[in-house]
Amino acid sequence: MRVAQTIDFDVLEQGASIADLERGRSYYVQLCLPCHGASGRGDGEWAYRMTPRPADLTRRRTRGRSDEALRAAISDGIAGTAMRGWEDRLSETQIRQVLGYTRHLGRIESVRAASR
Ligand code: HEC
Repeated sequence: MRVAQTIDFDVLEQGASIADLERGRSYYVQLCLPCHGASGRGDGEWAYRMTPRPADLTRRRTRGRSDEALRAAISDGIAGTAMRGWEDRLSETQIRQVLGYTRHLGRIESVRAASR
């Protein structure tokens, strides 16, 4: 069974919806984890097979991008890379949920980095 990072209640944004995050997490497990890895670091089991490697979704550069930019990457994909677009598989709501989960992975990493 493939398992991705669970929701970390210590880093939840105020007002965040657990239900949305859990839905996002389950799409992530099915669709994203093989490339982006259990914690979003870009180290999934398929990662070594591609150039460029899957993005580390927890890195500062990705965390700094706007929701709009990340949503576009997820729905349309990134030309010249193995990142396909998911708009044929996921509704707008589902894309928002999976994006929310990847933001959560980034928050976990930034809080951990701050306490190191
Ligand atoms: C087949 C492997 C693969 C799968 C599956 C995959 N990705 Fe990606 N992803 C990539 C690659 C490769 C990149 C581009 C890396 C680069 O541009 O250097 C990328 C880039 C991204 C980016 C852009 C990051 C940035 O900093 O701009 C986001 C966001 C992203 N992926 C989210 C997802 C989500 C969410 C899913 C699941 C719905 C997913 N990916 C599924 C391989 C994959």
